[in-house]
Amino acid sequence: MNGMDLCGLVDAVQERISTQVGLSFEGPRGAIQRQVIQAQLRRIIDRHPGLPEESVALAPVTLRRICEELTVQESFFYREQAALDWFCHHVLPTLRGRRRPLAAWSAGCAEGQEVYTLAAVLEHAGLRRYRILGTDLSGPAVTAARCGVYGLWSLRGLDHSVVPRLFREGAGHFTVRERFRAQVTFAEHNLLDAPPRAAGGYDLVLCRNVLIYLTPAAQRRAVAGLTEALAPGGWLLTGAGDPLLDGAPGLATVLTGHGAVYRRADGPPVGAGPQEDARRAAPAGGGSGIMHDRSAPATAGPPHPSATVSQILTIAEEALESARPGQAERLAREALARHDESGRGHALLVQALVQSGRPAEAVRASARAVDRRPFDAALWTLHAVVLLDTGDAEAAAPAAERATSLDPGMAQAHLVLARSRAALGDRDGELHARAVGRELLEREAVSR
Ligand SMILES: C[S@@+](CC[C@H](N)C(=O)[O-])C[C@H]1O[C@@H](n2cnc3c(N)ncnc32)[C@H](O)[C@@H]1O
Repeated sequence: MNGMDLCGLVDAVQERISTQVGLSFEGPRGAIQRQVIQAQLRRIIDRHPGLPEESVALAPVTLRRICEELTVQESFFYREQAALDWFCHHVLPTLRGRRRPLAAWSAGCAEGQEVYTLAAVLEHAGLRRYRILGTDLSGPAVTAARCGVYGLWSLRGLDHSVVPRLFREGAGHFTVRERFRAQVTFAEHNLLDAPPRAAGGYDLVLCRNVLIYLTPAAQRRAVAGLTEALAPGGWLLTGAGDPLLDGAPGLATVLTGHGAVYRRADGPPVGAGPQEDARRAAPAGGGSGIMHDRSAPATAGPPHPSATVSQILTIAEEALESARPGQAERLAREALARHDESGRGHALLVQALVQSGRPAEAVRASARAVDRRPFDAALWTLHAVVLLDTGDAEAAAPAAERATSLDPGMAQAHLVLARSRAALGDRDGELHARAVGRELLEREAVSR
């Protein structure tokens, strides 16, 4: 086989894989992906002398083998736990007392770590009746998930107190306990195919650290399937490094303290707690869809005069996480009036204004924040986010650049820079910033 032939075959394989499973071959990983495909093709074709090279290269079994090599089936227990805790804290209470058990789907579950983590987190939150389906493109990953046996690497960073609750320990391996395994099932599934069904729909869908590997067109198709699988008012959680889904048809975005989460927009008003305020869901069919708290912040009185600034800010954070931006705004302003020096007050005020659906005021507040604290990379990142949300990518990109130069290790700043550059049509710049952000996130996860 000459070099040209192999190049052409690699192109053909990439195109098939991109069409069938949505993998993207753009960006800094592109060159490595090409090398992987070339090496695999050489090996597979050499093993079938006499057969037409093109039919060997494009045979389903070859494409499957290559896909296995290209997809990253990497995961670990309790990855991005904050989002699961948020769900338990804010959504679970609203589902209690229902007849049917909670139904959850982990889409792109790799070897099942996410599924068992969710089971353990739900149990810890007091839920006994739940069903979780874990699906992945990779057959071997699904088989490993069903086995439920893991090495130490999958448990890295895990709190020691969790281990005996979740696993039986053997010589160098850890087996998930039967009571968790009894409530979960696994299946192979391609996110570009029709989604699995649960009676009444899924209350929770996790699709974390998967969309980032897909082309924009495949992302849209996958998100449409995930949305379709949700119960009315069900929740979709993506990963910290995944693209923002704001504006995806049928989904409303809810900003929380740890990032955006999404809710199927045809549900009843969120009931995230006993004093939850009524709020507007996003219009079905799209639009910005950020949830706004329209109610007066009358549910809580002023902070106790002896409360410290830090205590006020903690209550403001809780209000924000419970989607009570009116209360959060008032408390953040109170903290700023008391000369909060930490930057938290500024950040909370901006987030509260965004959640209240007042983007212009949010931009003014974030501009004031970076003016007061010009060396605060987190505030510059936030400033870039609100500028982006108002469609001002021209101003957002330099703000995000400022954040990355102030703190080159801040993954979020690079990811926001990537979004700004994407909005400006700077594809190379976007891919570079996204790759740096992803790498930082992975490093953070490993060192945790
Ligand atoms: C990095 S892992 C994420 C695992 C887990 N969700 C987490 O956050 O730790 C990405 C997984 O997505 C799967 N995947 C990639 N493309 C897919 C597709 N089109 N359909 C279903 N799964 C896919 C891969 O096989 C891989 O196991």
